[in-house]
Amino acid sequence: MTRSTESAPSTTDPTVSATLPPPIIPGQPLTALAPMQDVTTLAFMQVVAGYGAPDYFVTEFFRVHDTSRLERHIVRSFDENQTRRPVFAQLIGESIPHLERTVVELLKHPIAGIDLNLGCPAPKVYKKNVGGGLLRDPARIDAILKSLRAACPGLFTVKMRIGFDTTDPYDAVLESVAHHRVDLLTVHGRTVKEGYRSDVHYDLIARAVQNVPCPVLANGNVTSATRAHRIISETGAAGVMIGRHAIRNPWIFQQCREVFAGRSPVSVTLADVFGYMHTLFEATYSPDVPERAHVNRIKKFLNFVGQGVDAEGAFLFDMRRTQSKAELFEVARRHLLQTPDKLFSDEPYAGVIARPNCETPIAPEGCSLG
Ligand SMILES: Cc1cc2nc3c(=O)[nH]c(=O)nc-3n(C[C@H](O)[C@H](O)[C@H](O)COP(=O)(O)O)c2cc1C
Repeated sequence: MTRSTESAPSTTDPTVSATLPPPIIPGQPLTALAPMQDVTTLAFMQVVAGYGAPDYFVTEFFRVHDTSRLERHIVRSFDENQTRRPVFAQLIGESIPHLERTVVELLKHPIAGIDLNLGCPAPKVYKKNVGGGLLRDPARIDAILKSLRAACPGLFTVKMRIGFDTTDPYDAVLESVAHHRVDLLTVHGRTVKEGYRSDVHYDLIARAVQNVPCPVLANGNVTSATRAHRIISETGAAGVMIGRHAIRNPWIFQQCREVFAGRSPVSVTLADVFGYMHTLFEATYSPDVPERAHVNRIKKFLNFVGQGVDAEGAFLFDMRRTQSKAELFEVARRHLLQTPDKLFSDEPYAGVIARPNCETPIAPEGCSLG
């Protein structure tokens, strides 16, 4: 059931907790690639690992309901994963029998543990009272955590926001997390209603660190390794989970390890970014998808990459207008290879927005992003 034998529980005794897989560099804070629907596919995990893997991966969420079945493409992200890093399988749902059934199915696969999504802010998701919608009902969360804890003989983790529209139920949810012996808690320091662009409430992440016995990962706007280091010192978190800034800069996990060790992070040049773009294009290509559709998909990743290319957003402006592979790579050569030694910015340039409308999902059914 577990990828790493060290983390495999030797017993189903509910009083014995499984141990978290160790980080790549023993003793360092943990890093995790955030689950991102339609982004953190098998191909993307493997591309990121090529630039320096995170300690942990988490899959896109498996939707759980009365007729749900494990989605094949998400199963591939652990069954065929060659990165040798632990992969947690994320679930979104509220039906206890179907969550338990899904756990039983997932435990037949090489996963590191089960993660529960308590944060997705897409209205079509939260209106069904799942994901971030559950944060309006801490009693229901308590019941779900109780059942999932009993159903998971190994690691059971939770990824949550700090509330739905207020943070009033936050302490009650933290109490349930502690009571049901969740093994790892990730806190995205925004409410559901705050979406993806507000300031992040790191003080409330620190409150989780003080109130739950398990390690806490800080999530939200961890834009660079230097910031990861600062956020960990400010919150006392055991590590960071990084989403959009790992799409922009897949070197970020390696850079974190360097900064955590007191070294300067490796510099990335625009020529390196061209290489990343090329690798991403090829790794995520599928012969069943027409070229134009694949170009459009890559442009969604490049929306983030463009935040580190130039302060004026010129790469983004030209990239968004391309329609074919030839046009896309012509723009890339012009913006990235004419000054190949220019450094890619560690932090996103202020005012260069990843997407004009940040609530547009990457996939039509996706968790809305911003
Ligand atoms: C495109 C996209 C898809 C996402 N899908 C998921 C998901 O499937 N499960 C989840 O828990 N969070 C999902 N999120 C939220 C991220 O995991 C993360 O909490 C959020 O982006 C904040 O972290 P960041 O500032 O490092 O990006 C998604 C975010 C984005 C941008």
